[in-house]
Amino acid sequence: MVHEPSGFSERQSRYIETVKKHNDVRKADGYEPKVYVLTLGCQQNEADSEKIKGMALSMGFAESDRPEGASLIVVNTCSVREHAESRALSLIGQFKHIKAASRETVIAVCGCMASRPEMAETIRKSYPYVDIVFGTSKLDRFPELLALHLESDRRVFSSEETCADICEGVPVRRESTFKAWVSIMYGCNNFCSYCIVPYVRGRERSRRKSDVVSEVRELSAAGYRDITLLGQNVNSYGRGLEDETDFPSLLRELAKLDGDFLIRFMTSHPKDVPDELISVIAENEKLARHFHLPLQSGSDRILREMNRRYDTASYLKIVEKLRRYVPGISVTSDIIVGFPGETEDDFSETLETVREAGFDMIYPFIYSPRSGTPAASRTDMVDEEVKGERIARLIELQNSLSRERNMEYVGSERRVLIEGKSKKGDEYFSARTSSAKLVHVRAQGLVPGQFVNVKITGADTFALYSEQEGNKNG
Ligand code: 5AD
Ligand code: SF4
Repeated sequence: MVHEPSGFSERQSRYIETVKKHNDVRKADGYEPKVYVLTLGCQQNEADSEKIKGMALSMGFAESDRPEGASLIVVNTCSVREHAESRALSLIGQFKHIKAASRETVIAVCGCMASRPEMAETIRKSYPYVDIVFGTSKLDRFPELLALHLESDRRVFSSEETCADICEGVPVRRESTFKAWVSIMYGCNNFCSYCIVPYVRGRERSRRKSDVVSEVRELSAAGYRDITLLGQNVNSYGRGLEDETDFPSLLRELAKLDGDFLIRFMTSHPKDVPDELISVIAENEKLARHFHLPLQSGSDRILREMNRRYDTASYLKIVEKLRRYVPGISVTSDIIVGFPGETEDDFSETLETVREAGFDMIYPFIYSPRSGTPAASRTDMVDEEVKGERIARLIELQNSLSRERNMEYVGSERRVLIEGKSKKGDEYFSARTSSAKLVHVRAQGLVPGQFVNVKITGADTFALYSEQEGNKNG
């Protein structure tokens, strides 16, 4: 299906004006309306929150880093695991007293949890002080929903998921001056049997290549150095676009743009990693030496039941090719333990595959049943205790692999991007290699957003270290 992008301003400008006027009246009374946005979940949510802030700023709100005193609070929620939803509800619960203290404060809940009709219903019934609830497909209609609430003083619910057309030109308030998110596609068509995402983010739709290229060009010109392309499955970028294109050709075009920057992307699905994608990375230094490739399970039987559409042999083949053609590339993964029916043998196969893949790092997750997904209605759930014990064994194995991988860096010289002060201590900066490794650089006078060459002098499970004399101004 072809999705024609629509402009943001033509659709929303009237509502932006309505809210702005409302805020102008309050400003005339000496009150400064502020927005506080709380973001839970993945990078896509972070990117969406930057748009919410961008829209709020254009409606006359100033940004606040705390909920107290804000006249607009937006909670951008996640649904991927049950824990994420209970956390969102408990945070929303904490805003009750803010609303009690100031009736004027508007509380909005958006994101994946807000897209689930049953969760929207929970909020309607049990959180009566929440004023606006809108799903992911309504993000660019935020000004409209806010204006509607302010004009009517009624609660506004707009949570049902529809396949939103892509809306270009939404204002963005970026958190960083050198790292940026760029969504290149939305939604997911894969329906992995455990996953709620296709239900809350709708079907796949890609932005036009020319729009993505212009955005990255502008970011590079504005000094952005680390640009991450986002999509639930970036490998299927371009399908359904009028000008048929694909992910490798998008990358090829982005790598040709002027400027000193790195392009990252996530997430890739192992069912479609063409050789072309591996070669385009190999040929272009601007494409980061990092590939995030969720394995989910190392048991072929479980992979089939997860509806993942690859097996461990084809997965390992991709990893082998990545390492052969892109020397120094790091490979990271997501693993779910305790999928329904997972036996000790299945889990041993996961450990074995993780060992064979030799991941640089993994994000291990305990399976969490999500109502509405096929896996959630199974009756052969794995015991919580068994899940806990398995994830501990997985983490222990991965820690030793991560340490081994990190030790390989010791003694080498790397170009790193300085990101800021390090938690390690005052005399350290935190930095990132092209392969996405965290480096604690002991130095003075470095500036966030600056690329420097450093010698790696140490490593442990979680990070690399550069502690030599002369790490000064690069
Ligand atoms: N339970 C546990 N982990 C999940 N993920 C997705 N759905 C679930 C679930 N129901 C994990 C997958 C995915 C990552 C973003 O979250 O590993 O890659
Ligand atoms: Fe969920 Fe699978 Fe889509 Fe990833 S590819 S968002 S795990 S359904």
